[in-house]
Amino acid sequence: MDPNVRPETMERITTPELAQAFIDEQIAAVKEQVGDKKVLLALSGGVDSSVVAALLIKAIGDQLVCVHVNHGLLRKDEPEQVIRVFKDELGANLIYVDAVDRFLDKLAGVDDPETKRKIIGGEFIDVFAEEAAKLEGIEFLGQGTIYPDILESKDGIKAHHNVGGMPEEFDFELVEPVKLLYKDEVRVVGKQLGLPDNMVYRQPFPGPGLGVRCVGAITRDRLEAVREADAIVREEIGKMDPAPWQYFVAIPDIKSTGIKDGKRYMGWAAVIRAIHTVDAVTAESVEIPWDVLCTMRDRIIAEVPGINRVLWDFSDKPVATIEWE
Ligand code: XMP
Repeated sequence: MDPNVRPETMERITTPELAQAFIDEQIAAVKEQVGDKKVLLALSGGVDSSVVAALLIKAIGDQLVCVHVNHGLLRKDEPEQVIRVFKDELGANLIYVDAVDRFLDKLAGVDDPETKRKIIGGEFIDVFAEEAAKLEGIEFLGQGTIYPDILESKDGIKAHHNVGGMPEEFDFELVEPVKLLYKDEVRVVGKQLGLPDNMVYRQPFPGPGLGVRCVGAITRDRLEAVREADAIVREEIGKMDPAPWQYFVAIPDIKSTGIKDGKRYMGWAAVIRAIHTVDAVTAESVEIPWDVLCTMRDRIIAEVPGINRVLWDFSDKPVATIEWE
């Protein structure tokens, strides 16, 4: 039997009971695979790696070493939440790496979107490899691979970073306990493992993070503006019921004229985007009520330094992609 093929008899995990049965089964399987050896896991705070971390903590405790790399492109409060949930509440053996300066220095002046992505991806692997080299006795690499990653890699749609994407010097055996699960099942398992809702049900977030929303060459001040405006938009649009599939802010590298305290105030425009989609291949813009738009406009202008306009991008995909870069 191919271990990368989901058996037809495997029941869809939709209830806490089915999730618990899956968790018990995987705890036994991981214990059997790993024995008394150590597992290294890159913990981004995303759903998949978080669920794997919580599962592995239950299975092997401090034989799991989690590495959380803060590349400076995370959303407001994300690194803090990873530390709070995993280190403080779940007692994880967590190494926090503050690599903010390192990433932002490398990205300074780079405005080409693909080059930005390559720098972020490459630097991430370098930081992770350096941390791995400092540790002794690691024989396994934990990964949050999920079933769509395997299917898409097989079909040649994309080389997913979880499937064959780690550098060759990483001669570790993989531990991938959720690799046969679909995303909705991973969320049910995460909930059963006791992870907070805002981690389990969080919206998709690109690997290069706010880097693709700080459009053009990233500067620290504009990146900070993206992070603050994004937090406001997530809070306000998050109150809509149902909330859109994905919603965020992008800030292009353009300043326009404004006026503040009787003086010219050159500022950036914060662009709000809220979309609905099934598979992210096409997407429709979601209608945001006028009062919600006004609340966000007023808060962003008042609370985020450097912004003098708020725009709403209501383009559909195609032709506009969901992200600006
Ligand atoms: P686009 O912009 O291509 O985005 O319409 C489609 C969906 O994919 C997300 N996205 C990414 N996710 N790594 C990721 O894990 C990435 O580099 C990346 N780029 C885009 C995007 O947020 C949207 O949900």
